[in-house]
Amino acid sequence: MGRVHAQAYARLPHHFPDSARPELVAIADDIPERAVDAARQFGARAAVTGWRAIVHDPKIRAVSVTAPNFLHREIGTAVVNAGKHLWIEKPVGLNVSDAVAIARAAQRQGVSVAVGFNYRNAPAVAAARDLIETGRLGTITHARFYFLSDYAAHPDGALSWRFQRARGGNGVLGDLASHGVDLVRYLLGDVDSVVADTAIFVPERSVPSGATSGHQLASGGQREPVENEDYVFAQLRLASGARCTVEASRVSVGEQNAYGFEIHGTTGMVAWDFRRIGELRVAAGSAFQDQATTTRYAGPGDGEYAAFQPASAMAMGYDELKVIEAHRFVQSIETNSPVGATISDAVATAQVIEAISTSVRTGGWEKPQSV
Ligand SMILES: NC(=O)c1ccc[n+]([C@@H]2O[C@H](COP(=O)([O-])OP(=O)(O)OC[C@H]3O[C@@H](n4cnc5c(N)ncnc54)[C@H](O)[C@@H]3O)[C@@H](O)[C@H]2O)c1
Repeated sequence: MGRVHAQAYARLPHHFPDSARPELVAIADDIPERAVDAARQFGARAAVTGWRAIVHDPKIRAVSVTAPNFLHREIGTAVVNAGKHLWIEKPVGLNVSDAVAIARAAQRQGVSVAVGFNYRNAPAVAAARDLIETGRLGTITHARFYFLSDYAAHPDGALSWRFQRARGGNGVLGDLASHGVDLVRYLLGDVDSVVADTAIFVPERSVPSGATSGHQLASGGQREPVENEDYVFAQLRLASGARCTVEASRVSVGEQNAYGFEIHGTTGMVAWDFRRIGELRVAAGSAFQDQATTTRYAGPGDGEYAAFQPASAMAMGYDELKVIEAHRFVQSIETNSPVGATISDAVATAQVIEAISTSVRTGGWEKPQSV
């Protein structure tokens, strides 16, 4: 993710020529060659192994935190306490307490915090939100959000930080369901209560012999338990009264980045799938029965689409969602007012995820607890 942030900053002037031009000053990775390679590739002046050098550098005004989840709280609070703006990856720490610690420090310091809930940045998702807000689908009644992946489906997938509670948190809940919950909140509003079930389907994995990156294989080594969830299915009652499901899995063979939603209202429906990023399936009208479902392509009027392409139906990609995120982050700094997903969204999402975990323990409906 550090690479994705670095290239998003570099592409800002290509797509948003009026935006401030960030200069990449330094890259930190605790593995020296990773820092040196990345600094060379992305044109940073310095490569360091200790992230504190970046926090203490007075020339640096903003920092991206793309380290594993267990480091988010320590690095994130140090960044904002140094008066620097922060772009931090989801899920923002291991739990609600970590996200709240960063939120409070940022509020005290008056700095901007952007969070990596990138799927809400897709122009087609902006178009879906517009359809909902303008009442084209009637009153929203029910919806289905899915985030299915195979990144941990291989039984020889290495036991990286992602599978340990102390370093990765609650597994697929923070990793993928958090994206789903953010989209639920962004498109349909607050969550009132949840009931949920989770499972671990690959109970142990091989300990890797060295540092990992991404989703590596590691066979033959000592095997240790997977400590957090592979799969979650949650039913949500929304404050609006709508009913909604969120399903997320990291072990679904045959599913690669199968992320999307189907939202139903009293007069229509809208559906989006990340793998067809620029398309919405829309049924809007007054027929109720046998109403046609049509394809509506994202175009220059939707979200930030016009910064990339001049006409509809030119497919964008994942990296473009991060360029949009970088632009919103810079806008937040320039205007001193939040644009895009913020630390408040991370806190609210973590509260829903925590209610999901509580529901798994109690077996009943649980409400997100605000602090
Ligand atoms: N928004 C998204 O779609 C998305 C996608 C993938 C990952 N993420 C998030 O990004 C974060 C990183 O995930 P990843 O897949 O890039 O992980 P990764 O394991 O591939 O990379 C983590 C990097 O951090 C480095 N690192 C570890 N400890 C460090 C330290 N003390 N100081 C400096 N660097 C250190 C590692 O050497 C490695 O290069 C996670 O929070 C994850 O949830 C978000």
